[in-house]
Amino acid sequence: MKQILFAVLCVLTVSNASAQDETDAFLKRHWASPIPSQGKAPESYTLLESSLSPDACGSCHAKQYQDWRTSLHSRAMGPGVMGQLVEIKSKAVSELRDCIRCHAPLAEQEASLRKQLRGGKQTAALHEQGLVCAACHVRSHVRYGPPPSKPSSEGQLPHDGFVSTPAFEDGRFCATCHQFGADGYVLNGKPLENTYAEWQSSPYAKQGQQCQGCHMPERQHLWRGIHDAEMTRKGITISPTAPALHDGKLSAQLTISNSGTGHDFPTYVTPRVVVQIYQESVDNKLIAGTLREKIIARQVSMDLSEELADTRLAPGELMALDYLVPLHSDATAIVMRVRVEPDYYYTGLYRSLLDEQPVGKGINLIRMALKNSIGSAYDLYFQRYGLAQIRL
Ligand code: HEC
Ligand code: HEC
Ligand code: HEC
Ligand code: HEC
Ligand code: HEC
Repeated sequence: MKQILFAVLCVLTVSNASAQDETDAFLKRHWASPIPSQGKAPESYTLLESSLSPDACGSCHAKQYQDWRTSLHSRAMGPGVMGQLVEIKSKAVSELRDCIRCHAPLAEQEASLRKQLRGGKQTAALHEQGLVCAACHVRSHVRYGPPPSKPSSEGQLPHDGFVSTPAFEDGRFCATCHQFGADGYVLNGKPLENTYAEWQSSPYAKQGQQCQGCHMPERQHLWRGIHDAEMTRKGITISPTAPALHDGKLSAQLTISNSGTGHDFPTYVTPRVVVQIYQESVDNKLIAGTLREKIIARQVSMDLSEELADTRLAPGELMALDYLVPLHSDATAIVMRVRVEPDYYYTGLYRSLLDEQPVGKGINLIRMALKNSIGSAYDLYFQRYGLAQIRL
């Protein structure tokens, strides 16, 4: 009985399923890890067409190149990553691959990284450029891309044209690096990276709104996320209830809802969002004892062995910070604030690496990474109400 039912379901879903299977099969080949070396370029290619460097692609694809250069994908081999990789021996291939399969996945990038680790000098090395165009688009020197958005030019195309596949318009393309698979690290019943699964159980998946729809609108190569205040504002709604004074007590409320983020807000264990209401004295200083705050984050211990709390907001979910605190005699204003620390976890990690003895070769890189990780914090929302305003 069970088998017959199964057969019926298969017939009904076959057309849909085969498109899904094709995408699955393509992605399995495309993201086989490690990615095989590209080999020799076809004879017909010019030097420019055989180059895997983003500069070369950019000489013809200027728009994608300009956008990509400002994205975090292009900085995926920054000081925080390199500062840790320089401690690994160039021969420890599997250790290196554990990191670069997401940060710089081409075989040619592994080769230039290992050359650097052996002390070899090179300029504009491919691994330094992080997640390059070719990592997503080129296999065996063949270009792969989404179905064309406009009719292609007539005649012979550069790099012998391209193979188009809807896999590029599918969120599973991103899941390769943004979702841990069945063998990935699980903490408190949830994979450490779980963005695709969070998205799958959201209304966006049901409506067919893929990762690309929000992170690559009109096929832009910007991939803005929590490091960008404007992008983060698009994903949430902040509603303040203005402060009021009753019987010597200040009351106020700040609510935050995940109204437009296609997964948990935030999705990773690395950022932290701090929601605060407090009273200020005349010199704009926080008055001790008047602060009330809540954290929105998946908080973990530094060694990732423990999940301390998970207060992230699933799509559609709302949290409120209620304030009811006696008015302090020094208070001149009340402040409502939402602060985003995109690299909160890394700040702690870099500090603990710098505390370790003996300090390794990566010390200057880690120092730079620490500075960057502190510098990426910003106020998503900041509102100050003068007390005179409230008393009126
Ligand atoms: C000499 C110029 C030139 C160079 C260099 C070049 N391309 Fe192209 N590429 C083209 C042209 C022209 C097309 C056809 C696009 C069209 O007509 O709209 C194309 C098409 C593509 C497509 C298919 C776009 C789609 O609609 O799916 C991809 C992907 C692509 N190139 C990636 C790359 C990458 C990655 C590099 C560097 C490794 C690169 N190209 C280097 C000129 C170039
Ligand atoms: C992280 C993977 C990734 C990287 C890195 C990347 N792309 Fe893409 N690219 C995509 C995806 C995915 C699409 C399709 C987006 C969609 O359909 O919404 C795309 C689309 C394109 C297209 C077709 C644009 C159109 O309007 O039809 C071109 C051309 C292209 N990429 C070139 C490049 C070049 C050049 C670089 C480097 C400067 C680059 N890509 C870097 C994933 C990537
Ligand atoms: C499954 C893909 C994946 C693997 C494997 C991976 N990373 Fe990452 N890494 C990411 C993603 C996605 C981010 C951005 C999100 C975040 O901050 O957590 C990131 C961010 C980082 C950052 C902070 C951003 C920056 O550039 O400074 C560091 C440092 C880092 N990874 C180091 C490593 C190291 C070291 C390894 C190997 C032990 C590694 N990663 C393995 C996907 C991966
Ligand atoms: C080959 C692995 C890989 C693929 C494929 C990939 N990413 Fe990433 N992505 C990364 C890494 C690594 C980082 C972190 C870069 C860093 O800061 O070091 C990242 C960063 C990001 C960020 C920046 C988030 C922030 O912290 O602000 C966004 C957004 C993002 N990716 C979206 C996407 C989307 C959408 C796709 C699919 C079209 C995609 N990525 C495909 C590896 C990948
Ligand atoms: C409905 C729009 C939407 C969809 C769909 C969506 N995102 Fe996001 N994403 C956002 C917004 C807004 C942010 C910034 C707020 C935040 O960090 O949660 C974000 C942040 C991120 C970040 C930054 C890191 C972090 O901790 O938040 C990554 C990485 C990311 N998205 C990847 C993806 C991937 C992969 C998919 C598909 C599985 C996806 N997103 C689907 C809107 C979307």
